Amino acid sequence: MNSQLQEIREQAMKRLSQADTLDLLNDVRVAFLGKKGELTAVLKGMKNISPEERPAFGQMVNDTRAAIEKQIEETKKKLEEKALECQLAAEEIDVTLPAKKNPVGHRHPNQIAQEEVERIFIGMGYEVIEGPEIEYDKYNFELLNIPANHPAKDEQDTFYITKDIVLRTQTSPVQARVMQQGKLPIRMISPGRVFRSDEVDATHSPSFHQIEGLVIDKDITFADLKGTLEEFAKKLFGEETKTKFRPHHFPFTEPSAEVDVSCFKCGGKGCRFCKGSGWIEILGCGMVHPHVLEMCGIDPEEYTGFAFGVGLERIALLRYEIDDMRLLYENDERFLKQF
Ligand code: DAH
Repeated sequence: MNSQLQEIREQAMKRLSQADTLDLLNDVRVAFLGKKGELTAVLKGMKNISPEERPAFGQMVNDTRAAIEKQIEETKKKLEEKALECQLAAEEIDVTLPAKKNPVGHRHPNQIAQEEVERIFIGMGYEVIEGPEIEYDKYNFELLNIPANHPAKDEQDTFYITKDIVLRTQTSPVQARVMQQGKLPIRMISPGRVFRSDEVDATHSPSFHQIEGLVIDKDITFADLKGTLEEFAKKLFGEETKTKFRPHHFPFTEPSAEVDVSCFKCGGKGCRFCKGSGWIEILGCGMVHPHVLEMCGIDPEEYTGFAFGVGLERIALLRYEIDDMRLLYENDERFLKQF
């Protein structure tokens, strides 16, 4: 009997020394100490032993059980330590590794162009004033000398919210809003989003941006307008840039003009960029119509002024030599990162 216990003990120790996971360790425990385990089987055989020998044998079984239990405990402790070490190693943080970079966005070409235009005019003493994108028909059209049924309304077909409220088709309504406030003189520019029901193509979008300009003071003349815009063009496109004022019609200015700048690519000789003409159209302008001044509460006998409107996308496209306006709205990072 003694040798059977010895055998069980050795077997158990051998298997314990091989158990390298907590699961295997549990298997060993069940195999030797469990209800159907080897040691239990030996205990069940006690009934065949003479009563005199039982206490000593019982003691031996208990010793064997205690020895195996002790070894199980020690093995368990070792395995748990090992598991913890593995876990710690796996979760180790290398504080010397470079941090993951969060990509930082950067300014959109439209934004860069807008800030450049703003900088130029702020440098000339202008204020930057914003107006609402959802605008009364009255400001978008009527106070700008575009009464109901005026053909100019056709060119700027827009999105109506109600009969009297539209998504503004131009930044010009900010002129009327600022003039109505009656704080004179005025030197302001007003950048912002405008809307027209245009189909999307390389040069059109139903939503784009303009920068409006307005100066109202005593004795403002067309010469001031010319000088201002010439200076603007030089600052934006380079000192050698020439400007050309072509007569045009806008309902809210009289006289009105469109302004071309000499092509900054070929210097005016004519190239693919300026379609061979040497000139590139950049904006509309004119002297504020006396009727508009009157409607906005300013006495045209005392005050005069000029206004202009620039397409922001047009500036960005020219400035960065982008040939399709749609690129500005797709927000493909590979494109945007270039500016
Ligand atoms: N609002 C005009 C447009 O969208 C542009 C414009 C032309 C604005 C002449 C002006 C101006 O202030 O004087 O076509």
